[in-house]
Amino acid sequence: MFENKLFTALNISDNEGLKVFAKKTKIKIAKLKYYNNESIFPNDDDLTRILEVINISELEFKLKMGIFDSKIFQAISDHAKNITNIIESDLKKNNSKTEEYIPIFETALGKLYQEDSLSLIKSLEKQSVDLIFADPPFNLNKRYESNMNDKLTKEKYLEWTENWVLGCLELLKEGGSFFIWNLPSWNTHISSILNKYLTLRHWIAVDIKYNLPIPNSLYPSHYSLLYYTKGKKPNTFIQERLQLEICKRCGADIKDYGGYKNKLNTKGLTLPDVWRDISPVRHNKYKTRDSNQLPINLLERIISMASNEGDIVFDPFGGSGTTYIVSEVLNRRWIGSEIGPIDSIINRFEDIEFHRQQIIDIQNKKNILFTEEMRKIRKKNGYWLPETLKR
Ligand SMILES: C[S@@+](CC[C@H](N)C(=O)[O-])C[C@H]1O[C@@H](n2cnc3c(N)ncnc32)[C@H](O)[C@@H]1O
Repeated sequence: MFENKLFTALNISDNEGLKVFAKKTKIKIAKLKYYNNESIFPNDDDLTRILEVINISELEFKLKMGIFDSKIFQAISDHAKNITNIIESDLKKNNSKTEEYIPIFETALGKLYQEDSLSLIKSLEKQSVDLIFADPPFNLNKRYESNMNDKLTKEKYLEWTENWVLGCLELLKEGGSFFIWNLPSWNTHISSILNKYLTLRHWIAVDIKYNLPIPNSLYPSHYSLLYYTKGKKPNTFIQERLQLEICKRCGADIKDYGGYKNKLNTKGLTLPDVWRDISPVRHNKYKTRDSNQLPINLLERIISMASNEGDIVFDPFGGSGTTYIVSEVLNRRWIGSEIGPIDSIINRFEDIEFHRQQIIDIQNKKNILFTEEMRKIRKKNGYWLPETLKR
């Protein structure tokens, strides 16, 4: 907590220092902690009191806190040469050298490394990857088999996030796609990094209940899936289509398509940016308690939509290896890293036929308006089918 930017800028290094500062500024300790822990710039009267006590200008305080509004950006840009001269040598010191890594598991199409993805990323060829999917830990103090720290301060988590995100950007080919799965609150920060380098195609809301009862807030019912591309247009975008939603019991339409029924594409409805058909993995025989396994149909959709056979898919946070399994079945080359145990990934590969069948089942149900089963019940109950409409 005391390493965060606010307390560092205020020279507060322990609880005693915090108490003294709170007394001087007449700001409650809890409020100072809130500003510090949430990396929020102090507002209004609190700011005036802080500046009086530390006796620096608002501008210097903002710079220390890393708050760069557009006026500050403009000034930095106008003085870029002078500023570069001052900070260049500091930045160079942080450039660590790259190592070569040996995969711990290989298939004809993929390579899995048991490494910290931040180091692995530096060793991979720049601009070589067609699609990146990343499902990082959410910093929710979860226990991972790797025993990694999942309760960093907000600042440290965001610093770590920026490091791997920027590393991944370098690996992506022009026209390549980058998907990031996270809580909406973290993805707002990740977007602000990516917006500077890539084109946002979609903020996809994936409707899966978190199962976290959070008091005094709306009930969180979606995960955020960011979808960006390097450059203006993706090299690959294959339209995914969904079945029409009907009542499972009687076959009736759930939405009213009015006079547009005969304009619906018989290959299915255009996939929207709210996905309601992705269910959490609960009973899969490969579900392990700690692995945070994502559903196969999520990865099947992303990989089918944004890559072609033979393309390279990279996922820096392996978990139980869902991305690698789906890539293998869909004939994509893949690169993966997992810092913790990888047995659950290898176990899944040993039974890849099970997953192949799952993927065939998923594919049989997409890119059609009605399955045979749906057609039967609609016919029986007298609901429209494409061939019964006037075109
Ligand atoms: C949320 S899980 C990914 C789950 C995965 N998408 C799946 O469907 O199974 C995140 C994983 O990233 C791993 N991890 C965390 N930090 C890492 C790092 N620096 N390098 C590689 N793996 C890391 C964790 O051990 C954890 O297994």
